[in-house]
Amino acid sequence: MTAEREPRACTMVIFGATGDLTRRKLIPGLYSLAKQQLLPSQLVVIGFARRPKTHEQFRQEMRQAVCEFARFPLDEALWERFASRFYYHQSTFDDAEGYRRLGALLRQVEAECGTQGRTIYYLATPPEAYYDIVHHLHAAGLTQRPEMAQTWPRIVVEKPFGRDLATARELNRHFRSAFGEEQIYRIDHYLGKETVQNIMVLRFANGIFEPLWNQKYIDHVQITVSETVGVEDRGGYYDTTGALRDMVQNHLLQLLTLTAMEPPGSLRADAVRNEKMKVLETIRPLDGEAIRQGVVRGQYTAGSLDGQPVPAYCQEPRVKPDSRTETFVALKLWIDNWRWAGVPFYLRTGKRLPRRLSEIAIQFKPIPQILFRAGRQAEVTPNVLVLHIQPDEGASLTIVAKAPGLQVRLQSVEMEFQYGTSFEAPSPEAYERLLRDVMIGDQTLFMRGDEVEAAWSLVTPILEYWDTHKDTPLHFYPAGTWGPAAAEALLANDGRRWRHL
Ligand code: BG6
Repeated sequence: MTAEREPRACTMVIFGATGDLTRRKLIPGLYSLAKQQLLPSQLVVIGFARRPKTHEQFRQEMRQAVCEFARFPLDEALWERFASRFYYHQSTFDDAEGYRRLGALLRQVEAECGTQGRTIYYLATPPEAYYDIVHHLHAAGLTQRPEMAQTWPRIVVEKPFGRDLATARELNRHFRSAFGEEQIYRIDHYLGKETVQNIMVLRFANGIFEPLWNQKYIDHVQITVSETVGVEDRGGYYDTTGALRDMVQNHLLQLLTLTAMEPPGSLRADAVRNEKMKVLETIRPLDGEAIRQGVVRGQYTAGSLDGQPVPAYCQEPRVKPDSRTETFVALKLWIDNWRWAGVPFYLRTGKRLPRRLSEIAIQFKPIPQILFRAGRQAEVTPNVLVLHIQPDEGASLTIVAKAPGLQVRLQSVEMEFQYGTSFEAPSPEAYERLLRDVMIGDQTLFMRGDEVEAAWSLVTPILEYWDTHKDTPLHFYPAGTWGPAAAEALLANDGRRWRHL
């Protein structure tokens, strides 16, 4: 599929328009696009939600959201123009009549604004509502427009996409009963981050990395996504989800595929997604032994962060006091192909760790020590290339240099590139990029159905193993530390060490 270059007049129907995602990300993201003149000439927003509300109340609430969360201050004149095409549509998600009324509203808007059936349905709802919404849109005849290009209307769906392989497959079937794959945009907001898109640019637009990007030169790869926050007000959701589903199945595996994939033949969505898919298919499936030895789960106990005491996970609101849900996961994966044979990929993620940090560290092999050992030097530290996803977005390369002085003394030093200092313009928010990509029909940064299922295929055996082997240890770690000792041991057993420990 070829993406359209400029977005054309369209309507975005936001299901769950009174929720947090709409307030914090979607409307502020759309507003920031408007500010940068990156929206189509006409964008109609229809907020679809249960609570009764007038159009004017909806506009006022969204105005407040922009003031609080947009990265540009509110420009009154722009806001007036932008919000004049906001509508509120009150209905429950399972009311057929509500969808018939939506159809009538869409037709009215089309006639007034020239949106011509270019409609985007954005599911910003809890996943329980997905079935009803897709079913009723289909039943009301709102999912296909034979006179339009096959990619319209479009539907955007947030994670979690399923809870395991079986539910993801079922959900894919349900979506595909109403929409074609080229109409479906499954969001992983990590893919919208500037630094994540930079992984491909760094790898494939620089001559110096790709020749070294393989098992001959790379010792191992560490992917870390650590957060200082706990579960905040999402205890109810998180306690039935856990870190493996919440972070590993999507964000961490996406980072892994971009790091490990072969160069695609073009930047077209399917060319890129085919290569990512091949990586997922070549990751060695985890059997019981590999799970016992190579997957560590943990949960935070009370501790402190930035000098402030913080409660244990089990004391968080809406978390069961005897919960066994993991807030930390570390695991080792192998990619069984020619490029990566013998190179372990270590992944870890956790809540209430000491620093907010997402990074991919490519650890190169050590050099033969003969030259510098002769001078009784300590071992020469191998090179590390770190892709800093957030914060301090950029990349750094650790190299060894001679420290000044009459002796040959070696020291590791860093060569660094930082987005903040190298570029004047600040990076757009992930949602700005993703929302615009939906409007122009570019699916590159969205997960294809088979990709989601392949990621679940890898993770589901772990969930099942934990479920059937109740004695699998859950390792506790005090909030504010880098996770349980068992995670350290995972690398130490291989003679390696996590960064930042
Ligand atoms: C979400 C998870 O997908 O990603 C959250 O559900 C997590 O639990 C968040 O906090 C992290 O995103 P970011 O962009 O802050 O790294």
